[in-house]
Amino acid sequence: MNERRGEAASGARNLADEDLTRAVLESFGGAESGRFREVAQSLVKHLHAFVSEVKLTEEEWFEGINFLTRTGHITDDKRQEFILLSDVLGVSMLVVGLNHRHVEGATDSGEGVEVVRGDGSLPTGSTEATVFGPFFVEGAPAFENGDDISGGAPGEPCFVSGRVLNAGGEPIPGARVDVWQADEEGFYDVQYDDLEGARGRGRLRTDEEGRYSFWSVKPEPYPIPYDGPVGDLLRAAGRSPMRPAHVHFMVQAPGYATLITHVFAEGDEHLDTDAVFGVKETLIAPFVRHDAGAAPDGRETKGPFYTMEYDLVLAPAGE
Ligand code: BEZ
Ligand code: FE
Repeated sequence: MNERRGEAASGARNLADEDLTRAVLESFGGAESGRFREVAQSLVKHLHAFVSEVKLTEEEWFEGINFLTRTGHITDDKRQEFILLSDVLGVSMLVVGLNHRHVEGATDSGEGVEVVRGDGSLPTGSTEATVFGPFFVEGAPAFENGDDISGGAPGEPCFVSGRVLNAGGEPIPGARVDVWQADEEGFYDVQYDDLEGARGRGRLRTDEEGRYSFWSVKPEPYPIPYDGPVGDLLRAAGRSPMRPAHVHFMVQAPGYATLITHVFAEGDEHLDTDAVFGVKETLIAPFVRHDAGAAPDGRETKGPFYTMEYDLVLAPAGE
């Protein structure tokens, strides 16, 4: 062992490179929580490796600090730029993936669930999760099944329906179904400064057969907010801020894991370039166009309308 290494082992002085990394790792060694120690030490290890690998200059280090400072400054109770950053870096979907693993191949054994996706195919097990996104609002208005939740939002009428099921294919009555979506302009209600109250969002409860349904407008693709540091990052990378059209769902029922997901519009041109990497094949469903006439709920429409049908399958809690 050379002299410098000997010094490093005895204290945090004259440290450079690997000795510095080792000393920082050791500084977390006495943490009371083992999990905190593990996470903090791994973060330090990878952060130091990254800085060394790219040979970060002082200007670049300052640029990075500046970026994070701007990310903090633009964040408030209506805008969460750090989550957006996590989203565009794929970290959000990595966390979703690690915490919601799906077992392949159970469907054919007879234990699987027949799930309506519009194309008749049978995805395995519980519905896949995807990013939460920044546009959920606590306390959305309650609706009855079949109600119109659009609140006059611009767009073409769309009837959305399906069932909430358990992994055995049985209906879950009384499940709480939160839905929220962008309008024809690609905006959520909370993005309009002059809008009071909810539009294109609501809370439903499944009926005795586990069914939910509502009228809204057909969702359209939209850009994630790109007028802040995350937008600068996307521009520097030549990346699109667009997300494919989708409807958000959060489904909760006692004894089941909360499901946070979207249903994406089949055929959308942004499905393979989602700015936040949230698309899963099993979450794509057709929004089917119909001429004026009788809708699935018996209503006679004056003009054309769309339907989208999707069953949401909940995993047992604690799985
Ligand atoms: C959304 O789908 O609402 C969303 C998700 C991640 C980032 C921005 C928006
Ligand atoms: Fe969204």
